[in-house]
Amino acid sequence: MNLKEDVKEQVREKYGQAALRVKSGGSSCCGATPRSIACADPITSNLYEASQTSAIPEEAVLASLGCGNPTALAQLHTGETVLDLGSGGGIDVLLSARRVGPTGKAYGLDMTDEMLALAHENQRKSGIENVEFLRGEIENIPLPDNSVDVIISNCVINLSADKDRVLREAFRVLKPGGRLAVSDVVTRGEVPAGVRQNMLLWVGCIAGALEEYEYVGKLAKAGFAGIDVEPTRVYNIEDARAFLTGQGVDVDAIAPQVEGKFMSAFIRATKPASCCGPSCCS
Ligand SMILES: C[S@@+](CC[C@H](N)C(=O)[O-])C[C@H]1O[C@@H](n2cnc3c(N)ncnc32)[C@H](O)[C@@H]1O
Repeated sequence: MNLKEDVKEQVREKYGQAALRVKSGGSSCCGATPRSIACADPITSNLYEASQTSAIPEEAVLASLGCGNPTALAQLHTGETVLDLGSGGGIDVLLSARRVGPTGKAYGLDMTDEMLALAHENQRKSGIENVEFLRGEIENIPLPDNSVDVIISNCVINLSADKDRVLREAFRVLKPGGRLAVSDVVTRGEVPAGVRQNMLLWVGCIAGALEEYEYVGKLAKAGFAGIDVEPTRVYNIEDARAFLTGQGVDVDAIAPQVEGKFMSAFIRATKPASCCGPSCCS
């Protein structure tokens, strides 16, 4: 198995277990090691407004493993087609489906069978019909070119070992003028490699998060325009203290190298309206 496949298998296993925990009445919480039972961790907790969570099944909310709330920040219009990359238990798909209404459609794409089973169950409980969950990988999106108005994603692109390919695929399936509106973990500024690795393990970014400027560069290379990265939650060393201490890290010693450098961000970009492919948009 090569490195990319190895990362994918680790991710699949981790999220398969998280889905089974939710199905058996537990919490979806997971990082590189399980986080607190109550899932009151600074990454996944309190991302959604009560007005949003009250409109979907509780199990969909419990299964939430994102690091942002792309559905609150993305512009979604009636009748549009939305695709959620790495849809997990389906929270953002169900919320988007409500936003685009019965004349629109929300697709969720996930590679983990246990997550897809959970998402299907949550959809059934919600009674929302304009939803379809697809089995597949975000590196090979099983949808035609130019078929989607908006791509959302919540803390998934950082899990891919081939982020260039994910962004190329996202660009391909978006209609000209289509929008990418994703939440993801990014880093800002230099961090020593060992510290970076430990912090990203805490956040659960198995394949490694991108530096903000790298993310922007990869989006531009894929053909996107109007790129914007807006921090939504900046992590504090105290947030990670218990986890890092458990890893044998001297937290006080590394604190100055971490402050303000690890964050969840909302990333926006657009596929130019008169666009035939990455090369002719540049
Ligand atoms: C951090 S969870 C986020 C789930 C969901 N977006 C949410 O906010 O609750 C990551 C999800 O992405 C899926 N995933 C990770 N890498 C993937 C890939 N390369 N292709 C398809 N799905 C992937 C996992 O199976 C898991 O369900």
